[in-house]
Amino acid sequence: MASYDVIIIGSGPGGYVCAIRCAQLGLKTACVEGRDTLGGTCLNVGCIPSKALLHSSHMLHEAEHNFAAMGLKGKSPSVDWKQMLSYKDDVIGQNTKGIEFLFKKNKVDWLKGWGSIPEAGKVKVGDEVHEAKHIIIASGSEVSSLPGVEIDEKTVVSSTGALELKKVPNDMVVIGAGVIGLELGSVYSRLGANVTVIEFLDAVTPGMDAEIQKTFQRTLKKQGLKFVMGAAVQGVETKGGKATVTYKLRKDDSEHSVDADTVLVATGRRPYTDGLGLDKLGVEMSERGQIKTDAHYKTSVDGIYAIGDCIDGPMLAHKAEDEGMACAEGLAGQKPHVNYDVIPGVIYTHPEVAAVGATEQQLKDAGRDYKVGKFSFMGNGRAKANFAGDGFVKILADKTTDRILGAHIIGPMAGDLIHEICVAMEFGAAAEDLARTCHAHPTYSEAVREAALACGDGAIHA
Ligand code: NAI
Repeated sequence: MASYDVIIIGSGPGGYVCAIRCAQLGLKTACVEGRDTLGGTCLNVGCIPSKALLHSSHMLHEAEHNFAAMGLKGKSPSVDWKQMLSYKDDVIGQNTKGIEFLFKKNKVDWLKGWGSIPEAGKVKVGDEVHEAKHIIIASGSEVSSLPGVEIDEKTVVSSTGALELKKVPNDMVVIGAGVIGLELGSVYSRLGANVTVIEFLDAVTPGMDAEIQKTFQRTLKKQGLKFVMGAAVQGVETKGGKATVTYKLRKDDSEHSVDADTVLVATGRRPYTDGLGLDKLGVEMSERGQIKTDAHYKTSVDGIYAIGDCIDGPMLAHKAEDEGMACAEGLAGQKPHVNYDVIPGVIYTHPEVAAVGATEQQLKDAGRDYKVGKFSFMGNGRAKANFAGDGFVKILADKTTDRILGAHIIGPMAGDLIHEICVAMEFGAAAEDLARTCHAHPTYSEAVREAALACGDGAIHA
């Protein structure tokens, strides 16, 4: 048995970042992880591996569609699926080993095994019980399926199984046009699968700005993805390695079905807190299964904290990381603060989609007077040179004060471009502040400046 200042349960982006920060601040720290590798869902079966497949399939798309026009002639590459999976596994290995290295460097102990909390101040891992002044739960989330749909991770897969398919399917059905469905749907579409996305709502990516939703869906359609919108999936039947998905159209209740080699269920995730013993401890939970916390991540039980996907808020790695750092800093006596109004969201398709702050609809609902500065990537020299002119930057600013309230980007490197707007928002900047900042030419960032200019006297290249 060992004694620690802090034991963190879970080594995903929330947990491992929290552990490193705790150690940096002089707290004796351990992190419990039951997987064979550190990094949680994000590094092992989520963000990182999917980005590897998005990258390689994008390269194929570039070769097939744009190389010849750039003067690069020759046979298009063919897909060596085994090698693509092994490239992805190598990327996972490099990243998870990286966390192991950081733990050693910062003297964070990795307690190997699944943890539970027999009582406040104690964490059980395997047969050993360790003591901790503070316990931080960072146990993350798990796939939530639909009634009538059984995930076997072979024919009917979650995002985890979709990263390990035996071969690229001919026909794939994706249930849910959220982030996971569209990212992985576009990977397999680019690799040659016929992909049909079935979505309950009338727009893709719920919660996004409506103009972005429309442009995004149109762009993906142009790339070959098919969409069945306003359709509730009723069930999936599998037979001999094939599946039939039945759905009802909401507008007339008519029932339809579609066949597939692979069905990806991407209808959301739910908090994962199994086996921690929270019931017995009396830790208060929300109706949605999230651990309830106060603004300092304290649960209803003294000495037990929670961060990341298992508490309220968007299920995003970077939100969990920020909470991990803030929780650690709070325990070390600092006064940290996470600004939930400036948490970017990114979808890593091509083009990428990124957003921060309010959507137009939210501003309308709040009765706020706002103005829109918009700039198309068609007016951006760099984007045109790179066959990346599809999309736009939209900045929403207060009509009177010019303060930036939100930004929505669809286009090349949107996930990187969004951050200058995040920084500007953290500083309470006006659109004019961005517009008066010199931006290097020729860069995609100039489109951000032009959108800021469009909030004032007008963009130059529009
Ligand atoms: P999601 O919540 O983003 O999307 C689920 C979609 O499924 C919704 O559009 C919903 O309307 C639809 N749906 C639900 N029931 C349905 C039914 N019966 N029939 C048809 N459609 C139905 O969930 P997703 O994509 O599974 O992602 C889970 C979590 O992981 C999200 O919180 C997401 O933010 C996070 N994530 C973030 C990534 C990123 O930031 N790039 C990447 C992957 C995941």
